[in-house]
Amino acid sequence: MTAFVLGATGFVGREVVRQLCVRGAAPVAHVRPDSSKLAEWQKTFGEQGATVDTTPWDAPKLAARFKELFSRGSGQLYICIGTTRSKAKTDAIEGNIYETVDYGLTALAVEAVKGSETRPRLVYLSSVGANPKASSAYLSWRGKAEEVVMRSGLPYAIARPSLITGERDESRVGESTAAVIGDGLLAVAGVLGGKKLRDKWRSTTPDVLASALIRIAEAPDADKIVDGADLR
Ligand SMILES: NC(=O)c1ccc[n+]([C@@H]2O[C@H](COP(=O)([O-])OP(=O)(O)OC[C@H]3O[C@@H](n4cnc5c(N)ncnc54)[C@H](OP(=O)(O)O)[C@@H]3O)[C@@H](O)[C@H]2O)c1
Repeated sequence: MTAFVLGATGFVGREVVRQLCVRGAAPVAHVRPDSSKLAEWQKTFGEQGATVDTTPWDAPKLAARFKELFSRGSGQLYICIGTTRSKAKTDAIEGNIYETVDYGLTALAVEAVKGSETRPRLVYLSSVGANPKASSAYLSWRGKAEEVVMRSGLPYAIARPSLITGERDESRVGESTAAVIGDGLLAVAGVLGGKKLRDKWRSTTPDVLASALIRIAEAPDADKIVDGADLR
């Protein structure tokens, strides 16, 4: 079983890599070739037991890499990719940032897997509320990315968590405040009988989510969308 993690340097992706290493899965952690922290990630992931891969975001190049890795047998491709306004600014991405990164890189990864003629399970980290028809650009492009995954003809598992909280490299005050207020209101809703609502929307942490992602990646049945209590 080969596990390849796209977005391995992210808040959730790095935890997926760490937990896979603890399980002895020796995953491949993808880091952008031009990452300013490449040496740091090589050290961190190397010490954990993962291999760092710096294949460029180019469909034929990724396809060739997937062919090498996944044609040995079954595999898992974790897609934990996405941008934020501040990251997109640093990356000098213009226009619709969610279309370019969240959707664009997911579509590119799926195209690469198809081009590789291998069949790993796609494990897609999406978001609660993802829907191609959503009025929010973020949720709409997440929904469109889910469609690309579901229509790929490849086995898949999609996770739709709510806010992911914890200590990040960068501060995201809005997210943590929303999680504290939201979780408080949801706790009240849970007591008043709104358990499903509470489970679907309450915040989670990278360790809990990473473990759920690995679980749905390994579950005997594929082609599922998982949220709420099933991600805990
Ligand atoms: N945060 C939340 O509360 C939340 C809630 C629900 C769903 N989600 C979804 O889950 C995804 C992952 O969450 P996270 O908190 O782990 O995100 P994160 O910490 O921001 O990590 C995002 C990952 O995507 C990579 N990335 C971003 N822009 C890129 C680009 N232009 N080219 C190549 N790689 C790029 C980053 O690489 P670098 O490290 O090299 O920048 C990083 O590995 C999010 O994008 C989001 O849509 C998040």
